[in-house]
Amino acid sequence: VVSLRSQLRKDDLPRIEQILRANRTAFNDVEVATALEILEAGLTSHDYGFIVAEDAQGLLGYAAYAPAPLTHGTFDLYWIAVDPRRHGKGVGRKLLRAVEQDVQARAGRLLLIETSGRADYSRTRQFYESAGYARAATIPDFYKAGDDKVIYARRLDPKEEDRTPPRAAA
Ligand SMILES: CC(C)(COP(=O)(O)OP(=O)(O)OC[C@H]1O[C@@H](n2cnc3c(N)ncnc32)[C@H](O)[C@@H]1OP(=O)(O)O)[C@@H](O)C(=O)NCCC(=O)NCCS
Repeated sequence: VVSLRSQLRKDDLPRIEQILRANRTAFNDVEVATALEILEAGLTSHDYGFIVAEDAQGLLGYAAYAPAPLTHGTFDLYWIAVDPRRHGKGVGRKLLRAVEQDVQARAGRLLLIETSGRADYSRTRQFYESAGYARAATIPDFYKAGDDKVIYARRLDPKEEDRTPPRAAA
């Protein structure tokens, strides 16, 4: 049984580092170091949100996100990673849904995700697309020549009908 937790603990960090390093096709050393800096900062700051997925064996994956500076209600997903031995079993989807719920609880209305357009990221892009994210922009050659940045977006604001107050009983 996979459960979720939104409180990041210091003793999660070594296991998260293992998971990031195990996903070495997705994250290079600099990216792992950046992810760890965000986690360290998150232990003492409330600016970031974290969701951790775990089961009886321990931590399986995590997601990190934060409000986008200078916006009203836009959030960025910074990082999502699942233990490669557990890929394709719904853990990533569970994490992403929990992020969306927390973003909505913080009055967020738009969640953005940046990823690479490289061929070896096609499963990652497929993951976002099947989770309801639309390709909002592509910046050609952003990461390096031939490596585009693809920005995915999902609107999380309540639908018009949900915003209409219930009619008073006659
Ligand atoms: C992308 C990632 C977070 C998805 O988590 P997950 O638990 O494997 O995904 P789920 O099981 O919830 O969803 C499965 C869908 O994700 C996609 N997917 C992406 N990577 C996959 C992988 N390695 N194995 C299986 N499915 C994968 C598929 O489209 C799959 O759909 P399908 O089941 O219809 O084939 C995870 O694969 C991962 O950590 N990848 C490496 C790190 C990464 O790329 N992070 C994002 C950086 S921008």
